[in-house]
Amino acid sequence: MNILITGTSSGIGYGLAKHFSEAGHQVYGISRRETKIDNENFHHLPLDLLDYPAVQTKLPEFLSNKDLDLAILNAGVLGKIQPMAKAELDELKNTMELNLWSQKVLLDTLLSNNKVETVIGISSGAAVNGNMGWSGYSLSKAALNMLIQLYAKEFEDTKFYAFAPGLVDTNMQDYLWEVSEEKYPSVKKLHDARGTENMPKPEEFAKRFESALPKLFKLESGQFADLRKI
Ligand SMILES: NC(=O)c1ccc[n+]([C@@H]2O[C@H](COP(=O)([O-])OP(=O)(O)OC[C@H]3O[C@@H](n4cnc5c(N)ncnc54)[C@H](OP(=O)(O)O)[C@@H]3O)[C@@H](O)[C@H]2O)c1
Repeated sequence: MNILITGTSSGIGYGLAKHFSEAGHQVYGISRRETKIDNENFHHLPLDLLDYPAVQTKLPEFLSNKDLDLAILNAGVLGKIQPMAKAELDELKNTMELNLWSQKVLLDTLLSNNKVETVIGISSGAAVNGNMGWSGYSLSKAALNMLIQLYAKEFEDTKFYAFAPGLVDTNMQDYLWEVSEEKYPSVKKLHDARGTENMPKPEEFAKRFESALPKLFKLESGQFADLRKI
């Protein structure tokens, strides 16, 4: 398969890129920082997804008319855990910019230059759980779910899914580890899961992700699913 993955320098994207390239797939990875994967099947484009002119010119060059079997839109930011009423508008806009608008620019560029079989937007349980403090992150992932639904209606030859990965032990969890359970009770579940099989490391997660794909692909295009429930 030809697989595009965004956000391959760390965390989930790194785990997926390593797993799929080692399994013999051609993996095209994007991130600003270097991605430390030494495999001839892995190809990397250093790119800031917020630099829209660069996305529009460099992405088509990088993929050079290749047909993609799978595009995994994984790059994302958490932003601050904080009460919505205290959140600065600029901070919320930054989270929306990467988690929502950059995904639109990427999709528009991709779909006008390449044939794409399936798109998976990496969403979150936070897209549907309005827990105290999840602020711009919940908003952005709920909006991403809707973006995926809307594209599914417009591009009938491509399948689109918004997929929540469950808990994965990445840089995002390092930040969440420091968040107070007293102020934000929903983080207790995350703290309890760390170091257990309920929060796998990215490479272990990648195996679970691949195993879940056949079930995901049976769903109607445009749907949101959670890996823990599928
Ligand atoms: N970890 C979890 O438990 C969990 C749960 C639910 C959903 N998710 C979702 O999973 C996805 C990956 O998160 P993660 O936990 O793996 O976090 P992570 O380790 O912080 O990875 C984020 C990735 O996004 C890339 N990225 C950020 N800004 C970028 C930009 N402007 N341009 C290009 N790439 C950019 C980063 O690369 P550079 O910094 O090198 O650019 C990095 O590779 C996110 O969408 C997150 O919302 C994670």
